[in-house]
Amino acid sequence: MNQQTKYWNVDNIVDGLEDYPQIQEAAELLRRNELIAFPTETVYGLGGNGMEDETVEKIYTAKGRPSDNPLILHIADRMQLDELVSEVPPLGEALMEAFWPGPLTLVFPKKSGVAMRASAGLDTVAIRMPDHPLALALIQAARLPIAAPSANLSGRPSPTTAQHVLEDLDGRIAGVLDGGPTGIGVESTVVDITGDVPMILRPGGITAEQIAEITGEVAIDPGILSEEAAPKSPGMKYRHYAPQGQMWLVRGDTIEEMTKSIRNAARRAVEEGKKVGILATKETFREYDGEYTVITCGERRDLISVARRLYDVLRQFDQESVDVIFAETFPEGGVGTAIMNRLTKAAGGHYL
Ligand code: TXA
Ligand code: MG
Repeated sequence: MNQQTKYWNVDNIVDGLEDYPQIQEAAELLRRNELIAFPTETVYGLGGNGMEDETVEKIYTAKGRPSDNPLILHIADRMQLDELVSEVPPLGEALMEAFWPGPLTLVFPKKSGVAMRASAGLDTVAIRMPDHPLALALIQAARLPIAAPSANLSGRPSPTTAQHVLEDLDGRIAGVLDGGPTGIGVESTVVDITGDVPMILRPGGITAEQIAEITGEVAIDPGILSEEAAPKSPGMKYRHYAPQGQMWLVRGDTIEEMTKSIRNAARRAVEEGKKVGILATKETFREYDGEYTVITCGERRDLISVARRLYDVLRQFDQESVDVIFAETFPEGGVGTAIMNRLTKAAGGHYL
C-alpha cells in the first residue's frame, strides 16, 4: 500500500470540466479500478468503482474502515438510478426533485440480482447526486456509479480540503483532485425512504425542516443524538471524528453561563498541567483569556459558518496536541442538529 498519489489542482476551472485532461485522467483511473479523492459540496470523498467488489474492498482498506459499514453510491444523472434500485418510492421522487443535486443521500430498495459489496449485504442501497461541478464532471466522465465515503482515515475528522485528504491518505490512493475547500463542511443527510415516512438516519446538509416542507412528515432516528439508543444506520454506531485530546461538550442556560463553565474547567485543567484547547466562536473567543489554545469555529448567529469550519478546527486541535478540549455547544434545529451530532460523536457523548 505505498503508491504515488497524483495531485491535480482544478480549483478555479469552470466551463466544460469534462474535457479537462485532469478530469479525464482521474476518470480513466477510476475506470481502471483505482481510488481517486474528489471534492463534493459537503466533504471530500474517496471514490472508487461502486460496481466492482474488489475496488470497494480497496476503499475499506485505504480508510481502515470497518467493512460492515455500507457506502454511498454517487451518480451524476437520474438514468444511473435505474441500474441500482428496484423502485423509486413516491417519497423519493419528491425529495430528488427538491434536493438533487445536493447534500441529500436517499436509501432505496436495491435492485435484486445486483450484488454490491458497497451496500455491505443490506437489501437497500444509499445513493446521492452531489452538487459540485467537479464531482459531477468526474462521475460523468467515468460513466460509473462511484462509491465514496469521506476521504479520511477511519476515526479522523472528515476532510474539507485536499490538504486534509493528503494528511490521511497520501501514498494510499491513486490521486486527489483539488477543488478548494468544500462549502457545507458536514456530510450529506441520509434519509431512508423505504417506509411510509422518511426517516433521517444521519443529520447533515439538508435539514429536517427542509425535508418536512416537501414530505409533510419526517422521522428522526432516535439513535442519532443519544449515546444509549442504537442508531439504525450502520455507520453511526462507530466513534467517529475523534480528536486525539479528550473532548468535553459544555452547555449553559445562557451563553454567559456556558463560557463561564468553560473558563472554570479550563483553569482547573491548566492547574493539573494539561494543555487545553477551547472550541469557541467569533462572538465568544475573547472570553477565554489564559494559556489556552482557543480556536474560533464560525459565528454563532450563522450556524452554516460553524458547520463549514468544524472538521478543520478538530484537525487543528490534533495538530496542537492538546490534552483536553472544551467545546461550546449549539442550539438544535436546522444545521445545528448536524453540528451537535458530529460534536457529540467527537466527544464520545461526554458532557461536562
Ligand atoms: O456527504 C457525504 O455523504 C460524503 C460525501 C463524500 O459524499 N460521504 C459520506 O460517506 O459521508 P460515508 O461513507 O462516510 O457515510 C455513509 C453513511 C454511513 O453512515 C452509512 O452507514 C450510511 O451512509 N449508509 C450507507 N448505505 C446505507 C444503507 N443502505 N442503509 C442505511 N445507511 C446507509
Ligand atoms: Mg465518513
